[in-house]
Amino acid sequence: MTSMERDRMIDTAVGLCEKYRNEPALLLEILHDLQETVGYIPEETQPAIAKCLNLAKAEVHGVVSFYHDFRSAPDSNITVKVCRAEACQSMGANRLLEDILARNGLPKTGTSDKGVTIEEVYCLGNCALAPSAMIGERLMGRVTADRLQSAIEGVGA
Ligand code: FES
Repeated sequence: MTSMERDRMIDTAVGLCEKYRNEPALLLEILHDLQETVGYIPEETQPAIAKCLNLAKAEVHGVVSFYHDFRSAPDSNITVKVCRAEACQSMGANRLLEDILARNGLPKTGTSDKGVTIEEVYCLGNCALAPSAMIGERLMGRVTADRLQSAIEGVGA
């Protein structure tokens, strides 16, 4: 995180504290709003929240780590969809799926401990470029296990 990003997140947290009149009893509401805005509760914002609400840093940290709803890191889950419908199957989709599961340490479709979720789907509308797969919103055609794995690693797995 750059210092500019950090400052922006701290400003967001301070702004939310002000929205809730710096009321310590509203800490949960502030944290929920912050997670909704930023995607998680950055460690760097916790001292600023504590200061605004006149709480100890440990109290804020304790609340963030106690509630399972709060994340203290960005959600890095990557979803990969591998097409197994007819056109893709005829171009080796079954083997592709097996390879990509093995490379990510998964015996079957699901989520690896690195946050990679692999799903099988039936037609991505890209049959002419079979076999097809999707990573997040990115559609890929004529996919090989090597290309797909590089793309997965390229988005941070
Ligand atoms: S059959 Fe795979 S994209 Fe259509």
